[in-house]
Amino acid sequence: MDIEILHPERLACWCNRLQFPGPVIEDLQKLAEQIQSSPFLFDKFASIYTKTVLRGEWHREWTPLPMDPDVETVLGEATVRFYFLAYLAALPLAHQEYLRRGISEAIFDATMADIRFWLCQEISENGTWRFDQFNWIWRHLSCELFRLGRLQYMLILFDSGITAFRHRQSQRILILADPDMLLRADGYAFEAGKYPPEFKHLEPERKPEEPWRPDFREEPDGWFGYPVSPYGFVLRHPRFLNRTEWELMLQRGDPVLDIHIPRGDPFHPEAIRDSLYQAQAFFSEQYPHKPYKALFCHTWFFTPQLQKILPPTSNIVRFQREFYLYPHDGGPGFLWSFVFGEKNTDPASAPRDTSLRRAVLDWLAEGKELFDLPGVAFHGPQKWGEQPYMRQWDEHDPEV
Ligand SMILES: CC(C)(COP(=O)(O)OP(=O)(O)OC[C@H]1O[C@@H](n2cnc3c(N)ncnc32)[C@H](O)[C@@H]1OP(=O)(O)O)[C@@H](O)C(=O)NCCC(=O)NCCS
Repeated sequence: MDIEILHPERLACWCNRLQFPGPVIEDLQKLAEQIQSSPFLFDKFASIYTKTVLRGEWHREWTPLPMDPDVETVLGEATVRFYFLAYLAALPLAHQEYLRRGISEAIFDATMADIRFWLCQEISENGTWRFDQFNWIWRHLSCELFRLGRLQYMLILFDSGITAFRHRQSQRILILADPDMLLRADGYAFEAGKYPPEFKHLEPERKPEEPWRPDFREEPDGWFGYPVSPYGFVLRHPRFLNRTEWELMLQRGDPVLDIHIPRGDPFHPEAIRDSLYQAQAFFSEQYPHKPYKALFCHTWFFTPQLQKILPPTSNIVRFQREFYLYPHDGGPGFLWSFVFGEKNTDPASAPRDTSLRRAVLDWLAEGKELFDLPGVAFHGPQKWGEQPYMRQWDEHDPEV
């Protein structure tokens, strides 16, 4: 089997295209030579390549990539680089796929640049390079995730038990709660706000309470359930939505456009709108038979407390307010890892150099909670900036 990435000049060509730092390219070239000259390593490499790149059987879970102990015996710490190289072996095939589908070189470069971001972050944090974003970059390498302007996108199937409806006359969106999610008295997820183990000692004490479960039923005339506020909590008063007045917009299994936010430039609404326009055109051209029903995003930006922590002019708050949030058993860890980094685990010594960092540390010091939520949006770039769900909720009686 001839694997393009193991040829030193081809490897250098791909690494230069992704603008990897020189020392990383040299390390990878040495490793490629070692693999080519060892039948044992070559066989292992070829079998990972066949499984992932050729057969598409990537490690798709959000868990660390399991590594072969026999390879670890031979390569020790360099095993991570061995797997990194095996993943990079997908680049030539991904590029061919872009050409076949008529996707531009610029989108290829913008999408794959994310691999360099993560690599360089490792180098700046640790001084040397490892790579642990395997559970993320398979999306780019398998041509399932694309960067279009400021945002990254991937078509996925909606995997939540909430159900969304649109009022036929007023066009308002209303979500009915997931009947499988236990809730606390205030309507957020029962487990929301729980701290990751390294922060357990900081977790404020909560009064013990009994969870409640929101019922949901489809009936011949319509749907019975508990409305979700766009701010992400469930109301205690159930509603019946009559089919003559309401239409089903989104349920589990429907295609949605999953949005990710790469680091980099400020997050101005104009850049988001421009990116959404690009996504609208790209996905209708590339996936005409799979129209998505909504935008979906699950990010620390959707920590609802940020609306109290940051001013309404903040780009993060403005983005959050474009979505209809719904309950999830998140905690402070998601926000913490993106605002302070996973290495900083002590609020006493955490940096206070941005208004967000200062406000979050003060908020936690007061014993207040933080948790992330997912959200969906049904309006496109044409109406981006209108914040329709939260604005309408603020203006109208929630009973419609
Ligand atoms: C996307 C991003 C550029 C948004 O930043 P922004 O446009 O400045 O957002 P805001 O206007 O809401 O910023 C408000 C304040 O929070 C600060 N802030 C924003 N994101 C921050 C972060 N990740 N860490 C620390 N501070 C941050 C800003 O610097 C600003 O502080 P200032 O008033 O002292 O200048 C920034 O968060 C980022 O690069 N994030 C990394 C990628 C990421 O988190 N993706 C989501 C993965 S789920």
